[in-house]
Amino acid sequence: MARIDQRALKRVGLGGALLVVLALTLTGCGPEPQSAMLPASDFAQALQDLFSNIFWWAVGVFVVVEGALIYALVKFRDRPENEEAAQFHGHTLLEIAWTLAPALILVAIFIPTAQLIFQVDQPPENADEAVQVQVVGNQWWWRFNYPELGITTANEMHLPVDRQVELELTSNDVIHSYWVPRLGGKRDVFPGRNTYLWFTPDSTGTYVGACAEYCGTSHALMKTRVVVQDSADFQQWVERQKQPAEAPTDSLAQAGRDVFMRVCIACHTVEGTPAQSEIGPALTHVDSRQTIAAGILENTPENMARWLRNPQQVKPGNKMQIPQLSEDQIEALVAYMETLD
Ligand code: CUA
Repeated sequence: MARIDQRALKRVGLGGALLVVLALTLTGCGPEPQSAMLPASDFAQALQDLFSNIFWWAVGVFVVVEGALIYALVKFRDRPENEEAAQFHGHTLLEIAWTLAPALILVAIFIPTAQLIFQVDQPPENADEAVQVQVVGNQWWWRFNYPELGITTANEMHLPVDRQVELELTSNDVIHSYWVPRLGGKRDVFPGRNTYLWFTPDSTGTYVGACAEYCGTSHALMKTRVVVQDSADFQQWVERQKQPAEAPTDSLAQAGRDVFMRVCIACHTVEGTPAQSEIGPALTHVDSRQTIAAGILENTPENMARWLRNPQQVKPGNKMQIPQLSEDQIEALVAYMETLD
């Protein structure tokens, strides 16, 4: 008897350890900025609701199956006084039950899943009132055009809270996938084809996301963020973004602009200047962004200098192939970038 008690003790200890690991793992899911379990839009909420629904079915299955298992292990364990157990084959009723029950549970999970898949694939009723943003995936950054507002920006999308949004997504090169978990599901982004994503953000804040489809060397460095603002702040941002760049007044920034117009003009746009190329991100208001290099570096003068010194080291394989700049040129360019607010 003593031996059995020890075994039971061991089992309880093992169960306890498992619970601790489970608790630690689950709490790890909580405060992550890219958690899909902290919905901030109708789309993300619908996904979360579906997930909860499936989760509770899984909990039910777990409790019933593990409960039956533990009951059987304890109740029918071998005892010295036991006679040999009855030997039989098959149990028609039980077999029908454990085939039918999972099938019914799968149907109960399938119906809301299929409904949601079709629902989020259709334009919502108020799609014609939506804020329109064209999203263009590039190796390895995102271009955002607001066709109705006449704004082009990169990597950092601003949206007004509580308004329907329609993203029209396409790619300039390979297949990417746009994913901001707190605002909705992933949407694949294809060259030569448009896909769509509709959602209504319900809370202000900054939501981070990432490319979710392997798209080359620096796939993991293709991040993005969405800044959801109240209506007044959003309007203010729009008005600012519509302005062309102001000519720099101090001599360092002016020297930086001269470097820019020789070296950077081939790929970038700064509205109000001859720089109008769309190969790289638009830089008219680059200083107003939180990050540079598609969410990789915080937007500080030090990081801008680091990027300009060696963009291939920060983001291997990217298309920014520039001649090595001198430290004086970098300092001047950084000063110019800081005027583009
Ligand atoms: Cu773009 Cu992965």
